Amino acid sequence: MSDDEKLDQRIQLVASSSFGRDVDEWRRGQQDLPSRSEAIRRLVYLGLQHEQEHPMRMITAIVRPHRYEAVREALMKLGVSGITATQVQGFGRQRGQTEFYRGNEYQVAEVPKIKLEVAVSSGMAEAVIEAISKAAGSGKIGDGKIFVSGLSEVVRIRTGERDEKALD
Ligand SMILES: Nc1ncnc2c1ncn2[C@@H]1O[C@H](COP(=O)(O)OP(=O)(O)OP(=O)(O)O)[C@@H](O)[C@H]1O
Ligand SMILES: [Mg+2]
Repeated sequence: MSDDEKLDQRIQLVASSSFGRDVDEWRRGQQDLPSRSEAIRRLVYLGLQHEQEHPMRMITAIVRPHRYEAVREALMKLGVSGITATQVQGFGRQRGQTEFYRGNEYQVAEVPKIKLEVAVSSGMAEAVIEAISKAAGSGKIGDGKIFVSGLSEVVRIRTGERDEKALD
């Protein structure tokens, strides 16, 4: 936003008190934000800038191997353009043990999992996260995890197409 831009649009915003608290908390860490609305304005610009820099998301999910088929079905139904799947071994906070007792010694044990990587437009990310969670979840420990990161560029090698076009 340039300095000489005319501020002639009044925008009404109804929000919860927890939204207000979150904004204020962020504002306290900033140098020069005289008001809440100034803080909200800055946050909106930061969000728009982030969207421009990372218009896509890389979604990495670790799931139980026997749930992989269901996850793949769900993602294909959503219309993702591709999936990378790898057999991996890992552990979460139980260190791979389904149960252990206080005071007992236990060893870390890696458990076989499937790692999925799906690149999608940012507008599709929430639907993908929901679909994976639903298809991979049993409610028991070890169901897995989903990691989401901003993705800035995609290139289809054959055609040289980029970004959204390369994801079509
Ligand atoms: N912080 C992490 N960083 C990288 N990989 C992780 C992390 N947490 C979990 N994983 C991967 O996800 C797999 C499944 O993790 P898991 O579902 O056991 O997570 P958790 O945090 O222990 O949750 P839960 O309590 O539901 O078991 C692990 O085997 C590991 O491959
Ligand atoms: Mg675990």
